[in-house]
Amino acid sequence: MKTIIEPSRIKSVEPIHFNTTEYRHKALKEAFYNPFLLHADDVMIDLLTDSGTSAMSSAQWAGIMVGDESYAGSPSYFRFKEAVQEITQMPAVIPTHQGRAAEKILFSITGGKDKVFISNTLFDTTRANIEFSGAEGIDMICEEGRHPSIPAPFKGNLDTGALISYLASNGSSHVAMVILTVTNNSGGGQPVSMQNIREVHDICYKNGIPLYIDACRFAENCYFIQQREPGYGDKSILEIANEMFSYADGCTMSAKKDAFANIGGFLALRNEELATKCRNLLVITEGFPTYGGLAGRDLEAIAIGLHEVMDEHYLQYRIRSIDYLTQKLHSAGVPVMLPAGGHAVYLDAAEFLPHIPANQYPGQALVCALYVHGGIRCVEIGSLMFGKYGPDGHLIPARLELVRLAIPRRVYTQSHIDYVAEVIIEVFAKRQTIKGLRITEEAAMLRHFTAKLEELV
Ligand code: F0G
Repeated sequence: MKTIIEPSRIKSVEPIHFNTTEYRHKALKEAFYNPFLLHADDVMIDLLTDSGTSAMSSAQWAGIMVGDESYAGSPSYFRFKEAVQEITQMPAVIPTHQGRAAEKILFSITGGKDKVFISNTLFDTTRANIEFSGAEGIDMICEEGRHPSIPAPFKGNLDTGALISYLASNGSSHVAMVILTVTNNSGGGQPVSMQNIREVHDICYKNGIPLYIDACRFAENCYFIQQREPGYGDKSILEIANEMFSYADGCTMSAKKDAFANIGGFLALRNEELATKCRNLLVITEGFPTYGGLAGRDLEAIAIGLHEVMDEHYLQYRIRSIDYLTQKLHSAGVPVMLPAGGHAVYLDAAEFLPHIPANQYPGQALVCALYVHGGIRCVEIGSLMFGKYGPDGHLIPARLELVRLAIPRRVYTQSHIDYVAEVIIEVFAKRQTIKGLRITEEAAMLRHFTAKLEELV
């Protein structure tokens, strides 16, 4: 097979600011060993997130100029609505400034004390919005999804057995909804199969529970279904998306991922009564229902991006490039999550740094080492992000200690990715020298964004 080439040419470039190991050592110390607190100019390859970091296409930039800034009834809104409806086939389309704003609105209405939200795995802002409403979020990931190094085609599936037994023991009246995150970001960017979506839908339907999709990376999930699930090989991405959304009562989406937009999101719903309640909240928090916290130009860029992301040449390159980095690391003995996910490569920090216990944050220690050694910024998805304290003040660690290298869409070329692999392999060779960390300051919620840490001696 020939090399799979990037499916686009470069028209406009941004410089990378080169710096030295000594410089980065100092910058990291000044950022309290938390790369979220770095100045982005001090980062050489930024793999912190794939969110809002995509390179927009020339068609999207042209759309920016076409964007209509009317306060109400902008034609850009109608193009946006049409693009969302083509994919989701949901009647109510509510624009929001990003995914979490859609979550906040939906959960403010459907959540609250004594309510429960069940998911394959809730993303951190999703869980935070659920908990902020007073409700509880419960993750029920399938058994395969619990083991980073054991390959399986659909490790993002929800454990339907666990869902059935939970409902048999607890009833369903307090379950606000089931949310399927596609792909499963916090669990390695792993896909959810159509069979699993269908089965979860059937259980929800029987029990009168609404099913929602957290659709940030819907196209990547659809591509995995096309490639891996029997019966979908000759279906288009749009056909697969249509079937996937047909099982859901609604969805939230961050357009900063699979719509190649730098900002934006939406809430799409089937139930008009609920949509009215959401729009009423939208007006006081985001804006009028035809712009919802976005400029007309953003709506235009999203509408075009939603179409572009379903291009199979793009998706083939996208998924292949994540796999390329994963395989390079795996062949060098670096512990990575297998198989490769859709938007990121996940290192298993617990295995990478077995000498650092969970309460010294091995994932964060690895994130820091990759920055100092190679100027690469990535994010911990482990006990700093998801750890909780027990009643005696002891850390209850996260289930997995992962480090995520999220690949921005259409931004880096193969030589950047080769460099990233070289840096990780070099850090792996000297892993014994990496030290654990201690938190010196933290917020009550989403602490990983702002926590300050220091290196243990
Ligand atoms: N749901 C999932 C699965 C996400 O990955 C994100 C964001 C959101 C919801 C919230 O969307 O950022 O537009 O408010 N994930 C980014 C990330 C931040 O780095 O994975 P948002």
